[in-house]
Amino acid sequence: MEASHTTKRAKRASALQKQTGALSFHIRPYEDKDFHRVRELFCQGMMGLARPLFYSTVSRPSNLLIMVATLALIYICTSSLLAAIGGVMSVLLALYYCCWFAYSSYVTAMLNSQMANIREHFVERPGSCFLVAETTCCDETTGRGGGGDVVGTLALVSSTQDPGACEMFRMVVDDRYSRRGIASCLVDAVLQRAREHGYRLCQLKTTMVQRPAIALYKKKGFVITKEALYTNGHSFFMLLIKLIIYEMEYVF
Ligand SMILES: CC(C)(COP(=O)(O)OP(=O)(O)OC[C@H]1O[C@@H](n2cnc3c(N)ncnc32)[C@H](O)[C@@H]1OP(=O)(O)O)[C@@H](O)C(=O)NCCC(=O)NCCS
Repeated sequence: MEASHTTKRAKRASALQKQTGALSFHIRPYEDKDFHRVRELFCQGMMGLARPLFYSTVSRPSNLLIMVATLALIYICTSSLLAAIGGVMSVLLALYYCCWFAYSSYVTAMLNSQMANIREHFVERPGSCFLVAETTCCDETTGRGGGGDVVGTLALVSSTQDPGACEMFRMVVDDRYSRRGIASCLVDAVLQRAREHGYRLCQLKTTMVQRPAIALYKKKGFVITKEALYTNGHSFFMLLIKLIIYEMEYVF
């Protein structure tokens, strides 16, 4: 009985063990020793989105118009091209700050709430889990190739609104290990947990600039169910950014 149990567990572990090129990794539940690394990955993943948001903001016709108008107005008033360019640079800096702020305010809020007690918020709640992807040694005989680095995370939490639904959070993969199938494995593992818990629906939120994530979720069978404008107090700046939030759903 015990032997068959062990075999089953070994089979499951090997199913979650992946080897992509030189990198091999496995998916395992979060442990307290991962705390700092998981928070670091979360910060890196979220703050890395400020730049694509900035590019998308700057290329919006209304913002291009603001920059041209600023340039023309300052030039007409001062006859100084340098002052006009300075004015446009200030607008660009202000826009970059808005993009940075949109994510940094979210990151700070999360680090001080959910991510301050990962165990309590994601691990110990019934019907929830927090999984990490960890590199394993490439060569098990020599032990060479490194291992033991947490390079990806994904959490599942039961919905507070709907007892039959769960929500996915904290999908992040270290960008040095991107396109190796790590996120794909994490999503598969979390959806499997959700199935075992008997959920009928899995929900998540993402933003328009998270194109790799949106492609990943669509590939896994999620569909966009709602689009909304992100507003967070600083409504004037948020209007310049026009950050769209997508709500996505997976039906089991
Ligand atoms: C989104 C993210 C988790 C993807 O991680 P990853 O390990 O590189 O993804 P995978 O290698 O498992 O790719 C799985 C699929 O996702 C999509 N994908 C991943 N990266 C992509 C990219 N740069 N461009 C387009 N599609 C991409 C593809 O469909 C890919 O399948 P394919 O490789 O067969 O084409 C990672 O880029 C990340 O951490 N981004 C920043 C944080 C973030 O946006 N998190 C989402 C929170 S909602």
